[in-house]
Amino acid sequence: MSTGKHYLITGGAGFIGSHLSEYLIERGNRVTVIDDLSTGSEENLAHVRRDPRFHFIRSRVSECAELERCVSECDIIFHLAAAVGVKLVVERPLYTIHNNLKETEAVLELARKYGKTFLLASTSEVYGKSSKARFAESDDLHIGAPHLGRWSYACSKLMDEFMAMAYWHEYETPVVITRLFNIVGPRQTGRYGMVLPRFVKAALENKPLPVYGDGTQTRCFCHVADTIKLLTQLVDGNPPLGAGEVFNIGTDLEISIAELARKVIALTGSRSEIEFIPYEKAYAPGFQDMMRRKPSVEKVLARTGTRPEIKLDQIILDIAHSMGMR
Ligand SMILES: NC(=O)c1ccc[n+]([C@@H]2O[C@H](COP(=O)([O-])OP(=O)(O)OC[C@H]3O[C@@H](n4cnc5c(N)ncnc54)[C@H](O)[C@@H]3O)[C@@H](O)[C@H]2O)c1
Repeated sequence: MSTGKHYLITGGAGFIGSHLSEYLIERGNRVTVIDDLSTGSEENLAHVRRDPRFHFIRSRVSECAELERCVSECDIIFHLAAAVGVKLVVERPLYTIHNNLKETEAVLELARKYGKTFLLASTSEVYGKSSKARFAESDDLHIGAPHLGRWSYACSKLMDEFMAMAYWHEYETPVVITRLFNIVGPRQTGRYGMVLPRFVKAALENKPLPVYGDGTQTRCFCHVADTIKLLTQLVDGNPPLGAGEVFNIGTDLEISIAELARKVIALTGSRSEIEFIPYEKAYAPGFQDMMRRKPSVEKVLARTGTRPEIKLDQIILDIAHSMGMR
């Protein structure tokens, strides 16, 4: 990775953004974060807050008076600001759509104006209800109907992808599109529906672990430290390594949610039990989940030569230690 660069991170006080800020600062770069602290927190930035190479602006991206100056002065933009978390998305679909579309457009337009590299953090949710065993970047996408608010997240993120791609085709703005698959690690909050921090917190408190549905749905989890290595590699270079392309980011090691709950209980030495909760009770009637969400990771591996290394047991222990387990 190049050093001595200036990065702008929207949503940099969030889970992924705060780890990314630290990683970049540690490697001799400057970082500016714009974040409205809607789901992020200043606590997340405790490790970098006092570093002279770090600058924090508390604002919504699209309302930030300094946005244009920040874009013009930086070398590379990581656009992570978005409405995140199934619970939040189901409860506030309109906020989700506005937040994911308007903010991306505001930043992309300035990235075009100043010719800056722009990385979009999109999501595995864009694959929708596809029943394929492994999702590849060139697959057709199969999103649910609009009366089910949960799809507003996938759809608005997908529109972000189309928008970014259009800037690449029409203006050669160097955009990189990444689809993140269940990124986990310390500092992720369970407040908005993320499964692993909720499980670990419940296990440490010896409370029941809530598993939605019958728990046979599977996911693949990737440590945030592995994730940011890939993200930073893809924006490196001139033009950036991943310019004009879409990449799945994650691992292809699958685990069912019930098995995950059992693993968390065992690794934390908890007395918790598993509580199965029907989806309708957890979210809204008609809630649709995907039974599998496994990425094909060949493309990003071939391009970067980097494979995520941190195993699930270690990820769970990292989270548990960050929550106070000795
Ligand atoms: N964590 C995952 O597994 C995962 C999976 C798929 C995609 N993503 C994407 O990665 C990005 C980061 O996710 P995260 O897990 O770190 O979530 P997060 O909620 O911790 O981070 C998002 C940050 O954006 C900020 N934010 C939201 N709207 C904003 C706005 N309009 N203006 C300024 N700041 C705003 C929030 O306060 C928060 O700090 C998001 O774009 C998300 O869609 C994450």
